[in-house]
Amino acid sequence: TRSVVLGCGSYLPQNVVTNDDLALRVDTSDEWIQQRTGIRERRIAAADETTSTLGIAAARRAMAAAGISAADIDLVLVATSTPDSTFPATAVIIQAELGIERGFAFDLQAVCSGFVYAVTTADALLQTGQATRALVIGAETFSRIIDWEDRTTCVLFADGAGAVVLEAQPAGDIKTGRGVIASRLRADGRHRSKLFVDGGPSTTGTVGHLRMEGREVFKHAVGMVTDVIEDVFAATGYTADDIDWFVPHQANRRIIDASARKLGIDPEKVVVTVDRHGNTSAASIPLALDVAVCDGRIKRGDLVLIEAMGGGFTWGASLIRW
Ligand code: ACO
Repeated sequence: TRSVVLGCGSYLPQNVVTNDDLALRVDTSDEWIQQRTGIRERRIAAADETTSTLGIAAARRAMAAAGISAADIDLVLVATSTPDSTFPATAVIIQAELGIERGFAFDLQAVCSGFVYAVTTADALLQTGQATRALVIGAETFSRIIDWEDRTTCVLFADGAGAVVLEAQPAGDIKTGRGVIASRLRADGRHRSKLFVDGGPSTTGTVGHLRMEGREVFKHAVGMVTDVIEDVFAATGYTADDIDWFVPHQANRRIIDASARKLGIDPEKVVVTVDRHGNTSAASIPLALDVAVCDGRIKRGDLVLIEAMGGGFTWGASLIRW
């Protein structure tokens, strides 16, 4: 069995916030933000938008692109660190709003690595026959956990959602067959205090704010993602030359460029959206996938490499024949 991508979709809030807009709130500048991160603008959710409403909009577009209806879905998996509430899972809210009445639904929390973790988890569940068609969503409203007075973090993070529909199909040819080919996940909780939220239901009883030692995260990011990608290459026999599109988590332009350079991936094969989306955590990869599918870059049969690294630390990569 292979988990084949039937379609993808995404949704961004209407509200565009530029670097100049942020410079009115905190001591920063368009020049500093662009030079250090590559970010030019980001989208911030309106008061009446939540992680589930963004996720629903992205899911509807993914289902339309896949040509399937709610009745066809039997797994809803939402990667998010900013759920609508502590419980129930945002996935069951989305499931109900989409009119899906069978199968199962749950959230998965691996911060910025959430989408890679979710694709890997959905793939495993499809492989074992526990589901046949999965809606895998990355959705975030990081604007709700940002300390808007902290210039070291508020310029980086943003809101959005993306989704893919995966279907269990008989595995095709080992080299040309479509679907998720291999994934590798990692975590090392010794780094948990370098990127965290200083609140929670069981500690403070508050939602809390994101705190980050940016330089420490940066220091580990490139080595961690390139190591796990090397593991995926070793497991599959593919190399950097075989990759048609590299779709990394969109945290920072410098991390993306350095990772591609270290792996020997041609810069023309790298999909970059951080300039317009900022860091949307678990939503960044499916948002970037959808951009590259819609503009005609990613085509059926292309070999697509996704990777992410984030709070925990967690990190991972998946190789997908689109
Ligand atoms: N505007 C202007 N100056 C700023 C800003 C800002 N927005 N933020 C920080 N500065 C200042 C700092 O105070 C510091 O000043 P000082 O030298 O007087 O102390 C100076 O700029 C340099 O700060 P550094 O933190 O050393 O800057 P750096 O080049 O490391 O860039 C950044 C900071 C962009 C955060 C970088 O470290 C980074 O991208 N790290 C990775 C972060 C990341 O990707 N996080 C997401 C991981 S995914 C997840 O799980 C959520």
